[in-house]
Amino acid sequence: MELAKDLKPALAAISGGLGDIGLAMAGVLARAGAGVAVGDLHGQAEGAAILQAAGGLEGQGYFQPLDVTDGAGTGVWFDAVETHFGRVPNILVANAAVVTLKPLLSMTAEEWSREIQVNLTGAYLFAKVGAERLRREGRPGRIVLVGSWAGHAPHPDLPAYSVAKAGLRMLTKCLALELAPAGILVNELAPGYVDAGLSGRIYEKDSAMKARALEGVPIGKLLSVEGIAAQLLYLCSDLASHMTGSTLLVDGGLSLLQGPQRVHE
Ligand SMILES: NC(=O)c1ccc[n+]([C@@H]2O[C@H](COP(=O)([O-])OP(=O)(O)OC[C@H]3O[C@@H](n4cnc5c(N)ncnc54)[C@H](O)[C@@H]3O)[C@@H](O)[C@H]2O)c1
Repeated sequence: MELAKDLKPALAAISGGLGDIGLAMAGVLARAGAGVAVGDLHGQAEGAAILQAAGGLEGQGYFQPLDVTDGAGTGVWFDAVETHFGRVPNILVANAAVVTLKPLLSMTAEEWSREIQVNLTGAYLFAKVGAERLRREGRPGRIVLVGSWAGHAPHPDLPAYSVAKAGLRMLTKCLALELAPAGILVNELAPGYVDAGLSGRIYEKDSAMKARALEGVPIGKLLSVEGIAAQLLYLCSDLASHMTGSTLLVDGGLSLLQGPQRVHE
């Protein structure tokens, strides 16, 4: 699949891009011909080494440390990307997230705030700062907010995560409305249970939970990072040129259940 014509030359910016899903998304965009700027919490040398080791970026990858909860720092990050590539990113992927696996009453206020800060406010800051620059240049673009099926249904042990991801859905719509006149399309990509990243690390420690997760997915499969990256490419292609303010839900039918199974106990 090709990147949309109006995005060429394409430059993608991905927050949390050194995570499992982020690296797969960076790879697919680079192979489609985009330059890829990755931001994550790692230090400069360590992050650059992880990006290099991931391979498949066709020499088009660039790493710069980023904390999405820091609005001023996010501006500095976009400055560095613009200086490195000589242009403003026209594909913004707000992907950074953290998760706390606990019932609501067991969470501390600090844990709650951290999750809202990274998963919701961080996505807002990343998209806002990037969109301001893109609009200033008068160029079209795509913004993809990485949500989750958990934004659709309350999950017993992911309260702050579910609330943040539900907020992200409305953030997608608000941004889409505001940026439509500028030709910047904004959509949410919402995966279900993934056999990697945040949930993959939980499944590694608890194989019984993985088995229960698998049973809970109506199509009986967990999602791969490549499967998510392919959907991102679709959202950045001409095939999705009439789509904005939407959620691309890739959850194997999880959200069709009346309520999620209690997989995290
Ligand atoms: N893995 C899953 O099952 C799953 C399911 C649905 C949605 N998602 C979503 O996919 C996205 C990627 O998750 P993943 O599974 O690859 O997890 P991951 O932990 O592998 O990657 C997340 C990355 O975000 C980074 N990060 C955390 N806080 C940050 C901050 N303040 N600033 C910048 N970077 C920060 C982490 O260092 C990490 O590299 C997330 O938005 C997540 O909610 C994941």
